[in-house]
Amino acid sequence: MASLEWRDEYCTGIAGVDYEHQALIAQINAVLALIGQNGERRRVIDGLGDIYGAISAHFALEERMMERHDYAEYAEHKADHDRLLDEIQELTLDYESSDSLDRDAFTQRLADWFGNHFQTHDARLHRLAWLREHDHPSPSKLEKMIRHAKDRLRHRP
Ligand SMILES: [Fe+2]
Ligand SMILES: [Fe+2]
Repeated sequence: MASLEWRDEYCTGIAGVDYEHQALIAQINAVLALIGQNGERRRVIDGLGDIYGAISAHFALEERMMERHDYAEYAEHKADHDRLLDEIQELTLDYESSDSLDRDAFTQRLADWFGNHFQTHDARLHRLAWLREHDHPSPSKLEKMIRHAKDRLRHRP
């Protein structure tokens, strides 16, 4: 397995959310391709940071939506987000210290996570929340959220 694939089951039925999910998958695949081509180490680490940043920003928006709607399953949903972010951070640290990344294992872990999360947590959330507007920050605000998350990853204690 060399890349993540979008599947119809991942659709939440909300165009903006599906678009964000597809964009995350495309971004992850771009970094996987870079690793596959034995891309420059600095660029791979930067790409992993971008993935972390983009996923963090997406999660933050979903979490804000849940809070706004007083969503009953907030804690479980957020815990699953935190679990993936911890995993990506761990993989990035491993790559930084060992210079190698098991691309198949990395892809499989992300594919399992996305497949499960989109179809359960996100589908449930968006089914309830879809009558209200989905939070769409301005591009500059989104970029700021991504940059902050990436900085958090790079400057962890
Ligand atoms: Fe999501
Ligand atoms: Fe989610």
